[in-house]
Amino acid sequence: MKRIVITGTTRGLGQALAQELESRGHLVAGCGTSAQGASQVDVGDFAQVQRWAEHVLDDWQAPPDLLINSAGITTDPDPLWAQDPEALARVLRINVAGVQHAIRAFVPAMLDRGSGVIVNISSDWGRTGAPMVGPYCASKWAVEGLSRCLALELPSGLAAVSLDPGTINTDMLRFTFGPGAEEFPTPESWRGKAADFVLGLGPEHNGQALTLS
Ligand SMILES: NC(=O)c1ccc[n+]([C@@H]2O[C@H](COP(=O)([O-])OP(=O)(O)OC[C@H]3O[C@@H](n4cnc5c(N)ncnc54)[C@H](OP(=O)(O)O)[C@@H]3O)[C@@H](O)[C@H]2O)c1
Repeated sequence: MKRIVITGTTRGLGQALAQELESRGHLVAGCGTSAQGASQVDVGDFAQVQRWAEHVLDDWQAPPDLLINSAGITTDPDPLWAQDPEALARVLRINVAGVQHAIRAFVPAMLDRGSGVIVNISSDWGRTGAPMVGPYCASKWAVEGLSRCLALELPSGLAAVSLDPGTINTDMLRFTFGPGAEEFPTPESWRGKAADFVLGLGPEHNGQALTLS
């Protein structure tokens, strides 16, 4: 049984993965802005993430074996010159600062124990470019960069990876692709292979930019 923290578990990929891992007997702590109680967390606000981490670590009396940063948002599709600067700032606060907030809140306990894997959910668009999604692309390139740096900072025994989860028909994809999202697999059909994949990660994967295909 592993202890697994996942951000963004109220919908989409985070929710599907959490459900799959729980069904396999793992202990999962998830969060989201629309979650209830102590799990109601805006990852863009470090004080909230810190409070949640204290709650989880106190409850478990142990650090997570896996920390999966999945919470994310995008902006309205527009060319970069038409993007609202506040929308760009919001994407960076949640998709980039949110990842660092969870790392800051949970990784020290993982370091104390000397083991654990951090999985930062990235995107194909964190490794390529695409029109109309500049702020989102920029945020995922930043996630790739943060992941590489963290990997270089961690001692042996721990690992940090970025993970492109594939293209899955979630709220985010429907918002970005419109009806075209229907062509892609559902989170329910994705969750089994995603769980196998993250459970198979270990120190030997440190620093890798991985893709779930
Ligand atoms: N779907 C795809 O094809 C695809 C492809 C590549 C990468 N990704 C990445 O996969 C991850 C999950 O995406 P998804 O498709 O599952 O999106 P989604 O269906 O829109 O779900 C996003 C999740 O993130 C949470 N979230 C958003 N803002 C948050 C905040 N400030 N604090 C805490 N939680 C927050 C949402 O919860 P609340 O609404 O409750 O806050 C929700 O649970 C994202 O990082 C996304 O960039 C997805």
